[in-house]
Amino acid sequence: VSAAVFQERYGPCALIAGGSDGIGAAFAEELASQGFDLLLLARRAAVLADTAARLRDAHGVAVHTRSVDLRSADLVDEVSSVAAGLEIGLLVYNAGSATALGRFLDQEVAEAQRMVALNCSGPIALAHHCGRSMRARGRGGMIFLTSMAGLAGSSHQVAYSATKAFDHVFAEALWHDLHPAGIDVLSLVVGATRTPSVERIGLDFEKLRPGDPEAGAMLPREVAREGLAHLGLGPLWAAGEFNRGLLPFFFSPDRAAVVNALSRGVANIHGLDYVPVSKRSD
Ligand SMILES: NC(=O)c1ccc[n+]([C@@H]2O[C@H](COP(=O)([O-])OP(=O)(O)OC[C@H]3O[C@@H](n4cnc5c(N)ncnc54)[C@H](OP(=O)(O)O)[C@@H]3O)[C@@H](O)[C@H]2O)c1
Repeated sequence: VSAAVFQERYGPCALIAGGSDGIGAAFAEELASQGFDLLLLARRAAVLADTAARLRDAHGVAVHTRSVDLRSADLVDEVSSVAAGLEIGLLVYNAGSATALGRFLDQEVAEAQRMVALNCSGPIALAHHCGRSMRARGRGGMIFLTSMAGLAGSSHQVAYSATKAFDHVFAEALWHDLHPAGIDVLSLVVGATRTPSVERIGLDFEKLRPGDPEAGAMLPREVAREGLAHLGLGPLWAAGEFNRGLLPFFFSPDRAAVVNALSRGVANIHGLDYVPVSKRSD
């Protein structure tokens, strides 16, 4: 659709949960370049302030910020005080990368519970809060960043992949459920992308596609552009041809083969152990 129609459907202001760096900042940049005002949420106030200043200078839009932990039980109270008076027509729930990898039992249970707060409770709270005002206006959009890792289980990122599966099904369900309210919803399935978060947890892009690391990893702006271009066109879009090519395998009924393959891939790119698992024969 044209930029004018896109603004009419999803403007004038976009809320980006996790909008200060990585893919969230790329969404902010794309939307600001189309004239959207923004409300950016993230924890580190200095990074938020830098991103907001850059976008105001480059695009002349209003950029509001709030330093908040999306895992907070008071999330809606914190957000509604800054969002009051802003007409939020688009919600992008971006934050959600894994912060630690490893065997489930070797991690503190609190780590898994924090993933649930960030990737399940946060999206529910903001979708409900923003969705009610969108419904009152009869229009709006929501994009949830999901993951190839949420289309199947895998070792070493048990809670992460499970919460990303939640996000994916949540978005698909909302796609149908919010349609009568005039709200478009998209599960934007993301594969390896060069962001500060994945660099922090040590993803080895060279091991993703040996000899051709560029081909397997996307840039944040490519993901954001594909997401915005596919809002309104169905419940699911996988960013990148390479990732789309893997979808038939990820959705195949041989779950043991899929979970083994994903676990092997995750172990490989993060330098962790992999042991193939098959059915018991005894
Ligand atoms: N990058 C990849 O390879 C990849 C692959 C598959 C799926 N994805 C998905 O794509 C999305 C974006 O990933 P990303 O790599 O750009 O990194 P990310 O860590 O998910 O997002 C970074 C942004 O979110 C903010 N953030 C993180 N935790 C937060 C919290 N608890 N409260 C408030 N803000 C928080 C960060 O700022 P602060 O740190 O200052 O809070 C920053 O603005 C995620 O949902 C992820 O699951 C990414």
